[in-house]
Amino acid sequence: MERLKGLILSGGTGTRLRPITYTSAKQLVPVANKPVLYYGIEALAAAGIDEIGIIISPETGGEIRKAAGDGDRFGVSITYIEQEAPLGLAHAVLTGEPFLGESPFVMYLGDNLLRDGVTELVSTFRSEEPDALILLTPVNDPENYGVAELDGSNRVARLVEKPQNPSSNLALVGVYMFTPSVFDAARAIEPSGRGELEITDAIQHLVDGGQRVDPHIVHGWWKDTGQVQDMLEANHLILDDLEERIDGELIDSRVEGRVVVEPGARLERATVRGPAIIGADAVLQDAYIGPYTAIGPSVRIESAEVEYSIVLEGSSIRDLEGRIEASLVGKNVAISHSPAMPRAYRFVVGDNAEIEIL
Ligand code: DAU
Repeated sequence: MERLKGLILSGGTGTRLRPITYTSAKQLVPVANKPVLYYGIEALAAAGIDEIGIIISPETGGEIRKAAGDGDRFGVSITYIEQEAPLGLAHAVLTGEPFLGESPFVMYLGDNLLRDGVTELVSTFRSEEPDALILLTPVNDPENYGVAELDGSNRVARLVEKPQNPSSNLALVGVYMFTPSVFDAARAIEPSGRGELEITDAIQHLVDGGQRVDPHIVHGWWKDTGQVQDMLEANHLILDDLEERIDGELIDSRVEGRVVVEPGARLERATVRGPAIIGADAVLQDAYIGPYTAIGPSVRIESAEVEYSIVLEGSSIRDLEGRIEASLVGKNVAISHSPAMPRAYRFVVGDNAEIEIL
């Protein structure tokens, strides 16, 4: 088989992660202090794919270019491809056609995270040489995904995008392997009810045309980080594999379990119970950080408790008597509190907000 290329889809609008994504691309929201998009690039690089096209939108493309650069630091070469509007995943594939040419390719949705990466799948695709290979995994809410139905001999029979009455619990994971035959399929289909050229319909077109579409069931965890709850779960899953490393400064502080404290971070009279990560130059004073929390770079937590949450770069949280839980706090947010009764807080706050609880 020819060399595989990679196509990462990082366009779209990200309405479901608002307010966080009013000011930034959803693929750049950090999980365990690393943008989701980087995990995808690294997964492709690990599978030996070193020519990657990234689909970007006119709105957030600049930010994505700035974050991922020319790919040097990942050991790959990145080409940016602008899609004029989010007209669907199959439309994104067609937008990528000049870059992909005759190469078979892995398409990776930029907001997806796969624990086991794609290395094994790429080698199956190379050795089996099907026309396409799709990844499936059982889920409890198939109506929120593309859903596949397999026939008696485990071949892909039918694919439906976000069906109201799913005929199976097998969701399409956001990683697909294609040969150039997908371009004709994408050209042959019509926009769906939501006005998008659906990749599920293009794959169905391949199946109907007698092409070989192999299913592969994913057993390791998989997350589509399109919603806040998923983001927090992804943070949890990644932090679960964290390796302890303390580079910052600890003054009268306690760190328990797997905790990373990045260089320049300062903990004073703080307790951190891992798994948790404290970003570079963060300051924790008289603070408690509970399990599955990612504190971004240059964040300040003073006299406050935060658990199972993501706090992005430059934010500050001060003088809260209760505990912040299951929250996603955007960049440069300031949360403070006048003395009051202890309680628990739950926030989803976009960038640059200022909140004072009276
Ligand atoms: O996550 C898996 C699911 O991804 C699959 O089960 C579905 O079959 C598939 O359609 C897709 O569903 P979503 O509704 O979650 O896709 P979303 O609109 O979130 O787009 C996925 C990624 O592709 C995201 O990073 C944005 C990017 N994108 C999306 C569209 C519609 C583009 O780059 N261009 C586009 O036109």
